[in-house]
Amino acid sequence: MQNIRKIAVLTSGGDAPGMNPCIRAVVRTAIYNNKEAFGVMQGYQGLIDNNMYEMKTRSVSNILHLGGTILKTARCMPFKTDEGQEIAYRNLKEREIDALVVIGGDGTFTGALRFSKRYPDIAVMGVPGTIDNDLYGTDYTLGFDTATNTVIEALDKIRDTADSHDRLFFVEVMGRDAGCIALRAGIAGGAEAIMLPETETALDDLINDLESSPNKSSSIVIVAEGDHHGGAYDIAKIVKDRIKSYHTKVTILGHLQRGGSPSSFDRILGSRLGYAAVNALLRGESQKMVGLRGNSIVLTELEEALTNHEFKLEDDLMEMVKVLSI
Ligand code: ADP
Ligand code: F6P
Repeated sequence: MQNIRKIAVLTSGGDAPGMNPCIRAVVRTAIYNNKEAFGVMQGYQGLIDNNMYEMKTRSVSNILHLGGTILKTARCMPFKTDEGQEIAYRNLKEREIDALVVIGGDGTFTGALRFSKRYPDIAVMGVPGTIDNDLYGTDYTLGFDTATNTVIEALDKIRDTADSHDRLFFVEVMGRDAGCIALRAGIAGGAEAIMLPETETALDDLINDLESSPNKSSSIVIVAEGDHHGGAYDIAKIVKDRIKSYHTKVTILGHLQRGGSPSSFDRILGSRLGYAAVNALLRGESQKMVGLRGNSIVLTELEEALTNHEFKLEDDLMEMVKVLSI
């Protein structure tokens, strides 16, 4: 790979807490190595609109604690076209930018891999940034820890009112097709049951479990949005028709799970992955994703990260739900 002189960074797809610490690390690591750093606004849309600017060390001051992304993000359909990618390439070449760090999920990585295969003189490095924790090649994605903590805080509040009124709450959480947020927040929030896309919990089992703890004044059932029974409202309706004794309520947590100041874990993860992404590019790596395995930074081919799927729900956590909620 040619000697890299200028590195651009963008955030794409769903925003996630931790993206700003990562942007900061990319910019400062590049500058520390006497490289120029550029910020691209609104994901791939900024490459097409030529909406990018040079970033200095001060450009990323006081953003470690900020949720969201200072570079904004977008879902950009034109980048899925050859014409769109060609315009993006020309805009990068015009500024003599020769490397790109993309922070996002599998859609973002798909775009980056296609782009880099088409224009191999632009090195690309992916950073897993999505609250869903649904990417292969890393134990944790940026934003997952913060989103899980946000859900736990909400559950504690719901527990207060559920307990006060002896109610059964169905709480729907994000995660797309992955149940990582639901499982961890459910355990930490003391949920009585957790509905996961990965495990086909029968509603009869759920109802039996709820009926088998009549002396419980309140109960909380977590529903991951990808659960095959549909959302929390659907499940609540079925349960309500079957268990008349319970006064049921539904809460959809929605996009508050995407915001919030990044946790210490996500600040450190964002900083480590941003630092690692730039150093990998400077070593001549490309078309890879940086990730965390155990407590070590690892590189995974983007191709591999996109074609492999990882079951990330710990067996003991899934067994514990029933045991700890008696
Ligand atoms: P995420 O990265 O969080 O999965 P999306 O699936 O919305 O989010 O993808 C983010 C962006 O990546 C899309 O808006 C598009 O610009 C780009 N992208 C996604 N899929 C492709 C593709 N097949 N080819 C080129 N670009 C793509
Ligand atoms: O991928 C992150 C995520 O928040 C998912 O958990 C959720 O399904 C989706 O994005 C929501 O997308 P949007 O913000 O476009 O509604």
